[in-house]
Amino acid sequence: MEHRNYDPARDREAVHRIWREVGWLEKGQEEALDLEVACSRALVADLNGEAECLVTTLPGTIRYLAEDLPLSCVISVTTSRIARKQRFAIQLTALAVAADAAQGALVSALGMFEQGYYNQIGFGTLGYSHRITFDPTQLTVPTKARVPRRLSPEDWAMVHASRLARQRGHGACTLLPAEFTRAAMLYVKNGFGLGYGDGPHGELTHHFWCGTRNVSHGPYWVEWLVFQTPEQFLELMALIKSLGDQVHLVSVDEPAGIQLQDLLERPFRYREVTEKSQFEHQMRAWARMQARICDLPGCLARTHLRGGEVRFNLRLADPIGPVLENRGPWRGCAGDYVVTLGPSSGAERGRDAALPMLRASVGAFTRLWLGVRPATGLAVTDDLSGPRELLEELDRLLRLPDPHPDWDF
Ligand SMILES: CC(C)(COP(=O)(O)OP(=O)(O)OC[C@H]1O[C@@H](n2cnc3c(N)ncnc32)[C@H](O)[C@@H]1OP(=O)(O)O)[C@@H](O)C(=O)NCCC(=O)NCCS
Repeated sequence: MEHRNYDPARDREAVHRIWREVGWLEKGQEEALDLEVACSRALVADLNGEAECLVTTLPGTIRYLAEDLPLSCVISVTTSRIARKQRFAIQLTALAVAADAAQGALVSALGMFEQGYYNQIGFGTLGYSHRITFDPTQLTVPTKARVPRRLSPEDWAMVHASRLARQRGHGACTLLPAEFTRAAMLYVKNGFGLGYGDGPHGELTHHFWCGTRNVSHGPYWVEWLVFQTPEQFLELMALIKSLGDQVHLVSVDEPAGIQLQDLLERPFRYREVTEKSQFEHQMRAWARMQARICDLPGCLARTHLRGGEVRFNLRLADPIGPVLENRGPWRGCAGDYVVTLGPSSGAERGRDAALPMLRASVGAFTRLWLGVRPATGLAVTDDLSGPRELLEELDRLLRLPDPHPDWDF
C-alpha cells in the first residue's frame, strides 16, 4: 500500500469523491469536510495515483477517574468504491494510531461502523449508550428556562470552549481542536444552538447543538448537550420542553450519570401509542464506541484505585503489530508485563514466577482497565483468562463508574 499525508491541493477533490461515494457528503457540506480534514492528522492511500482511502485522527483526552490522558481520536475511515478490500482502511488506521501513539497518545478511541473490524487492530468495545427520543411536552422537569441566546456556526469558538469546560466523568472524551467543533456545527442539516452565558465574563456555560430535516415539527436531533452543573442540565431540559408546542419529537443522548427516563411522563404508554409512527418514542441502547490502550505503563502510571492492590503477570496480545508489519517506532504493546493495580499502579516488562498469570488481548484488557465489564464477565465473552481467584480479586478492585465517552465521534 502506498500512503502519505493528505495534501489539500492534490487530494481535495478525490477526498470529496470518497465521501460522496460512501454517502457522507451532500451538497453544501464540503466546507465542513475540508475543515475537519485540515485540523486532523489525515493519511491517504493511493490507487492509480489518486487518493482512494482516507483516515483522519485528532488529538484529545480521555478521563480516567480524576486524570485526563492523551487520546488519539479516530474520526473517519473511508475507502472509495474502487478500492475496497485491499486492506487499505485497516492498514491506514493502524498507521494513524501508531503515529499518534509515537507522539504520546496513551489511548486511542473511535466510533465503529460494526463490531469486529477494529478488533483486528486491538480495539475493544465500550459500554452501552442510550439514545432517547421523546415528545418534549412529556418532560416533567420542574424548572422554567430563562430566555436563551441563539447560537450559530459563527459562534464555534465559544461553543467549543463550552464543550471543553463541560462536566466530565470517568471515560469522558474531549476532542481538542476547536475547528472540529466548527466543522461538526456546519455539517449538521438546519443546525442551530441555544444556550446560556453564565460564566464570570459571559462565557457560554451550557448549551445544546441540534439539527433536523423538518424544522416545523422535528424530530430534532440533539448533537450534543453540555453543562457544568445539575441546575444547568435541568434548565436545558426545560428549554427543550419549551419547544414542545411546535416540535413533536426530540432525540438526545443520555448524559453520563443521568437516567433521562426519570424526567419523562408515562414513558411506556407513549412508547406504545407512538410505535411505528413518524414520531415514535424510543429508547435505544448500543455500544458503538471502542478504545484501546496504546501505552500500558503510561496508562497504569496514571491509574489510582481505591480498595487494595492486586499484582499479577500479564501476557498481552496486540494484533496491531502484524498489521503494521512490525515497522515504525511504535508497534503496539504486546508482551509480558508484571502489573500492579492499586492506589499506585504500574506495568513493567518481565515476569514474576510468584504471581498468577492473566492472559488478554489489548482490547479486552482495555475494557477491564476502563471498567466496561468486570474480569469475570470479560472472561466469558472476550479474550481474557486467568485463575478464578485473580479474576474475582480484579472484580473487587475495578469497581469503576461506567465509562461514558460523552462526546460522539
Ligand atoms: C469500512 C470501510 C472503510 C472498509 O474499507 P476497506 O478498505 O474495504 O476495508 P479493508 O480492506 O481494510 O478491510 C476489509 C476486510 O475487513 C473485513 N471486515 C469487514 N467488516 C468486518 C467486521 N465487522 N468484522 C471483522 N472483519 C470485518 C472484511 O471481511 C474484509 O476482509 P476480507 O478482505 O478478508 O474479506 C469501507 O467499507 C467504507 O468506507 N465504508 C463506509 C464508511 C464507513 O462506514 N467507515 C467506517 C467508519 S467507523
